[in-house]
Amino acid sequence: MPIDTDLAWAAQLLREGELVAIPTETVYGLAANAFDAEAVLKVFEAKQRPAFDPLIVHVHSAVQAAAVAALEQAAPELRTQAEALMDRFWPGPLTLVLPKTPRIPDLVTSGLDTVAVRMPDHPVTLALLHMLPFPLAAPSANPFGYVSPTTAQHVADQLGGKVPYILDGGPCTVGVESTIIGWEATVEQWVLYRHGGLPLEEVEAVIGGVGRASKRVLPASPGMLDSHYAPLRPLLIGSVPVLAGELAGKRFGVISFRNRHVAHRCEVLSPGGDLAEAARNLFAAMRRLDQGAVDVILAEHFPEEGLGRAINDRLMRAAAKRG
Ligand code: TXA
Ligand code: MG
Repeated sequence: MPIDTDLAWAAQLLREGELVAIPTETVYGLAANAFDAEAVLKVFEAKQRPAFDPLIVHVHSAVQAAAVAALEQAAPELRTQAEALMDRFWPGPLTLVLPKTPRIPDLVTSGLDTVAVRMPDHPVTLALLHMLPFPLAAPSANPFGYVSPTTAQHVADQLGGKVPYILDGGPCTVGVESTIIGWEATVEQWVLYRHGGLPLEEVEAVIGGVGRASKRVLPASPGMLDSHYAPLRPLLIGSVPVLAGELAGKRFGVISFRNRHVAHRCEVLSPGGDLAEAARNLFAAMRRLDQGAVDVILAEHFPEEGLGRAINDRLMRAAAKRG
């Protein structure tokens, strides 16, 4: 199994245009040289990801971000706010969608004239980025549409045969994907593309109110697809006792915030009621339930605040898979 901690080997593979799975604080990514369209194509092939779904480019600094995003051409207000966000939240789970530079191949952005960029908060991947003369384009390292990996073993379980090397950085500390916001030129405002590891409240404390991207504004942003991040088993959200009462004899597993329920299997994400801990445990719990002997997964609705919004978002998309 190609899971190990050899940074020099990972860097060499990436320089040769190969894929490497990398740890980040949010989820594991499947990385390729962001300046090399041929290398990036391998990411789409390994994930069976449709070409209309753009990738996030990972950088080691705001200085390197300038090779990816054309901030100097942007409106002064956008530039000031983007720099304030980088200053405050990088490295960390905030992705910014900004005008792209010509160095970024169209494949990375699915032909959009904007690019998603972030600086991950993980010592292993930051060290790797510093060893390379290019940034890394990396989506989450899961087959398209499935739950994202939060350990190196999750990557091996699903993409093992397709990835030459998995760089092990331990379990992810945030556990849900980054929050994505972008400057929407048509409405001249920041909009939210995806709830994620940085609570929206913290972003809004720096730049003020953030709008919601409608599907009309961005029809092809799959972080916004209704059905995504989904386990294979059907998932229902609501009051667990009520849903369980309707299941008549079926074996069900439960995802709950702090309380244990009577069920074939119950995953309590945070007995102490901490949403950050719950987010960290969410995807691994979904995987365990998906592998266990249950017919259905029931999930509680989480408090709609802080990281609870990202958790609810992922649960709702998982539920949407079965319509
Ligand atoms: O935490 C994360 O963001 C992880 C780690 C590996 O960094 N990455 C991740 O990537 O979640 P991925 O590919 O699973 O999600 C990237 C999403 C796309 O599905 C799309 O919604 C959005 O980022 N995106 C990328 N480029 C965009 C653009 N130019 N405009 C709007 N949305 C964009
Ligand atoms: Mg993904």
